[in-house]
Amino acid sequence: MQAASAESLDERRFRDALGAFPTGVAIVTAAADSGERLGMTVSSFNSVSLSPPLVLFSLARRAHSFAAWCRTRHYAVNILSRDQEQLSNRFARALGDKWADTVAIDGATGAPLLPNALAAFECAAHARHDGGDHAIFVGRVVALHLSAQRHEPLIFFGGRYRRLDTGFQDPLPQGASMFEGW
Ligand SMILES: Cc1cc2nc3c(=O)[nH]c(=O)nc-3n(C[C@H](O)[C@H](O)[C@H](O)COP(=O)(O)O)c2cc1C
Repeated sequence: MQAASAESLDERRFRDALGAFPTGVAIVTAAADSGERLGMTVSSFNSVSLSPPLVLFSLARRAHSFAAWCRTRHYAVNILSRDQEQLSNRFARALGDKWADTVAIDGATGAPLLPNALAAFECAAHARHDGGDHAIFVGRVVALHLSAQRHEPLIFFGGRYRRLDTGFQDPLPQGASMFEGW
C-alpha cells in the first residue's frame, strides 16, 4: 500500500480511498420556513447514538441550499431502495427542480417523506459541528418509518451505484491503486 503524508495527500486518491467504503444512499428532506421544500442526496448518513437516538450526515458548505439547511429545525432521512436510483440523481443535481413530479407525504414533524423508501428517520435538529468544507448535522430521531416490504438498498461504492446482488463482483475503478503492495 502506498502511503501519503497529509501534506501530499492527493485529492483524487483521497476520493478513491473513500470510495472503497460502501455506503447506502439517502435523501435528506425538510420543509424550510419559506414553505419551500429542501432535498439532497447524501451518502454520508450514519448512526451515532442509540440512547438518545442520534444520526448524522454531512453537507457541503458550498451547496446552494446550505444556509436554508442550517435554519431547519426538523428534517427526514429517507433511505433509498435499489429502485430509486433516478430519484437519487434528481436530488443530487445542484439547483435542479428536485421536487418536480416527486410525490411526498408530510411526516409527523412536517418534513416531506418519500414513498417507497426503505426507512425514514424524522429528526429534530440536535447539533451542527464543523466538518471542514462540510458541516456535520446531528439529528435526534423523533419518528421512524420502516417499509414493510423487504426491498434491497441502493448502494454507492467506487464512485457508482451498486446493487447487493451484482455490485461486488465489479472491479474497483481505475486509479484505486491503494491496494498495491498487498
Ligand atoms: C450518491 C451521492 C451521494 C452524495 N452525498 C453527499 C453528501 O453526503 N453530502 C453532500 O453535501 N453532498 C452529497 N452529494 C451531492 C449532493 O447531492 C448535491 O451536491 C446537492 O444535491 C446539491 O444541492 P444544492 O442544489 O443545494 O446545491 C451526493 C451525491 C450523490 C450522487
